Amino acid sequence: MDNEVLKTIQNHRSIRDFTDEKLTDEEVNILVNAAQRTSNSMSEQQYSIISVTDPKKLARLGEITLHHLPDKAGHFFLFIADQHRNAQIIKHHKPDANLEALHSADKFLASVHDVDLAVQNTLLTAESIGLGGTIMGSIYNNPKEIIEMFNLPELTFPVLGLAIGHPASMPDLKPRINNELIHFENGYQEPDMQIVEKFDKTLNEYYKNRKGSKRDTNFFKNIWSDIAKGNYRKDLLPAIKSQGFLKG
Ligand SMILES: Cc1cc2nc3c(=O)[nH]c(=O)nc-3n(C[C@H](O)[C@H](O)[C@H](O)COP(=O)(O)O)c2cc1C
Repeated sequence: MDNEVLKTIQNHRSIRDFTDEKLTDEEVNILVNAAQRTSNSMSEQQYSIISVTDPKKLARLGEITLHHLPDKAGHFFLFIADQHRNAQIIKHHKPDANLEALHSADKFLASVHDVDLAVQNTLLTAESIGLGGTIMGSIYNNPKEIIEMFNLPELTFPVLGLAIGHPASMPDLKPRINNELIHFENGYQEPDMQIVEKFDKTLNEYYKNRKGSKRDTNFFKNIWSDIAKGNYRKDLLPAIKSQGFLKG
């Protein structure tokens, strides 16, 4: 089966090399409308989006994320887990309401799900209109500073950045592990290491031969180089809790 949506999905690759062209207001609106149309937990729309246009903030985000994508992209969105808006709405109607549930792990996860799905819908929509981009979790390198930079109130948390722009070059498609390693029937299945090792070779070939920066790495080395660093984002959990989340 083949259609334009399937083609766009199967053509996905993160874009980190942008032309200088900024997104138009119309393009930004198309992307925000795509986020809006996304499935969302309990129909409570527990997320918000900040368009970052201040060059100083973009430059600082570029430093924090170490990639300088926010300042080089055609537009940068910061996606926020947001229970604050719903707290305000409840308080508006019921000033004495007990809001304990908004501080729960359940509600934190719901708002993170809402962000993640909205981000993916936004990125896919961007790709469908000839733009490209990269999701950015590296905002977690300094959550406290980002919370202060954007005056994020209690019950909000910056979950992901999304750098979107006009691709200046198209990287090769990055291979994925075989379907049998991620798709099981009726229960969990331990990974078949022969298949994993074969994929190590596939990924090594990709990294050695791809356009742009070449590396001698593979799937195992990728995973281990991340995990061997230890928990280097120790500020993350305290920052989440200091915003009023994960209280129970
Ligand atoms: C939650 C999440 C966080 C990510 N954070 C970053 C990031 O901070 N910087 C970056 O360059 N890419 C980031 N990426 C993009 C991944 O590196 C990329 O999707 C992955 O390497 C697969 O490559 P592809 O998207 O080109 O297929 C992130 C992706 C996800 C889903």
